[in-house]
Amino acid sequence: MTSLAAELSRIAGEAFAAEGLAESFGRVAASDRPDLAQFQCNGALAAAKAAKANPRAIAEKIAVRLKAEPIFAKVEIAGPGFLNLNLADAALSARAAALATDDTLGAPGTGTGKTVVIDFGGPNVAKPMHVGHLRSSIIGDCLQRLYRANGWKVVSDVHLGDWGLQMGQLISEVEIEGVAPVYFDPNVVGPYSDDSPVSMDDLEILYPRASAACKADPARLEAARRATVDLQAGRAGYRALWRHFVKVSERGLEREFAALGVKFDLWNGESSVDALIPPMLDDLKTRGLAEISEGALVVPVAREDDKKPMPPLILVKSEGGVLYGTTDLATVIERVRNYDPTLILYVVDHRQHGHFEQVFRAAARGDLSGKAQLEHVGYGTMNGTDGKPFKTRAGGVMKLHDLIAMAKTEAEKRLGEQGIGADFSAEERSEIARKVGIATIKFADLSNHRTTDYIFDLERFSKFEGKTGPYLQYAAVRVQSMLRKAKEQGASIGIPSVHSAEERRLILQLLSLGDMLAAAEDKRAPNMLCEYAFELAQNFSRFYNEHHVLSEPDPALRAARLGLCALVLAALTWVLDLLGIEVPERM
Ligand code: ARG
Repeated sequence: MTSLAAELSRIAGEAFAAEGLAESFGRVAASDRPDLAQFQCNGALAAAKAAKANPRAIAEKIAVRLKAEPIFAKVEIAGPGFLNLNLADAALSARAAALATDDTLGAPGTGTGKTVVIDFGGPNVAKPMHVGHLRSSIIGDCLQRLYRANGWKVVSDVHLGDWGLQMGQLISEVEIEGVAPVYFDPNVVGPYSDDSPVSMDDLEILYPRASAACKADPARLEAARRATVDLQAGRAGYRALWRHFVKVSERGLEREFAALGVKFDLWNGESSVDALIPPMLDDLKTRGLAEISEGALVVPVAREDDKKPMPPLILVKSEGGVLYGTTDLATVIERVRNYDPTLILYVVDHRQHGHFEQVFRAAARGDLSGKAQLEHVGYGTMNGTDGKPFKTRAGGVMKLHDLIAMAKTEAEKRLGEQGIGADFSAEERSEIARKVGIATIKFADLSNHRTTDYIFDLERFSKFEGKTGPYLQYAAVRVQSMLRKAKEQGASIGIPSVHSAEERRLILQLLSLGDMLAAAEDKRAPNMLCEYAFELAQNFSRFYNEHHVLSEPDPALRAARLGLCALVLAALTWVLDLLGIEVPERM
């Protein structure tokens, strides 16, 4: 379905063309002043500039033509030549009827025939997922749902941190602790046991210990570096031990992502491109793009017009290990080869901006990215009410599953206060609280523009009033149960149409869904989905307060209104689904 704004732009474009002006001046958009008009076209001003004519005179000519179009109920000229446009209710009703039978609810199809790789989540092996990875997971998951809805083929990759110095730190820590000597015995080359000598709980103790030791003691750091190089070079015992770390961590991570309702197509890691690295290095050396600098192999990426110093991308350190940037560069090659994407998005903390700038420039220099545009989708920090990065009460790192549990407990409390589900089984109440808890976290995160830091205030985010996830779930559940009641009463659900100001507003908003999805994709901005959902719930509640639906005596009007409710519910549940939020059966 073409969007309403696109259709109006076409009509206005024809009017401009008929006056001998460029069609592109006919661009129509939703009005900045909805109190004055539904849509606006500002093209007469630009057209006048280009033609060195009077804008008002052009606007008048265009207005005459637009007034002859039955789709418009009112065409007015404002100020120096803005065109304010209102549609005929019959035209709105006809489009609402078409939308009601469109399974995609007007999704824009911007991605048809195109592939996007979305790299998000990015947790690290042997470290529990914390709130730092939460934003990447929530934003990245919303983007993968949005891109799919818009017709893209999406390949999502968790891109595990499994190949860097932290692996060497762990290996040497395990050696020192003496818990698994066989992996260090130079006389043994395997096969090794399938059972891991360490559990996730062990890793959670071993890793912080190793990292602290390496900070305090240069000899320990040196040992960890050597272990990293040996691991990457393929030492059998180290590889076997490392595989245990990865497997044990993956099992834990899968549980965490499942709790959050986040899925990935690929569980690749930094190590997945290991085999691609030597040929990549050879190639870059042969083509003179990589060079030795202070013993390391680097790709210079600075440009003359750089305002800040731009260090080279280091591919191989002087002692031999490869780095985060090396694996990221090789991963570009792998993704291009496997998926030939149009776009690769990296949903990673904005503090890594410099890293991605280096990688993207190196990829461009080496002509490694095919037709793909590489883009870092950065985001800010989630802070506690003290304005510092979110911590536990004791000041420690907040783990993801503890945060989810906290939100669920808060949801249970709120549901109790509201008397919601008092007569449901304990099991159902708990399931509702789980969904509400997740909605609390996700909506709070996504409703802020991703680049801003925000304060995680559970008290505020879990309220059933205001711009919150729970409010929207509740709004959807209310429409859902009203429709259920209507069906029980045998009322027929008809075709939505305009009968009042409130219906007109709702239908206009529903008809703008596709444009909103396209804009949210274009800006990689999940907060636009949140705005839309909130506004839809509010427009619905205004409509519902003003008009009878189930109690409407006129059966035709009742059916039309029920049809509108069904369309609102479909749109609201869909947008919530794109935000990763589930709507309970009842509340
Ligand atoms: N593991 C990294 C971290 O915790 C994030 C990985 C992001 N993705 C990437 N391709 N570099 O910071």
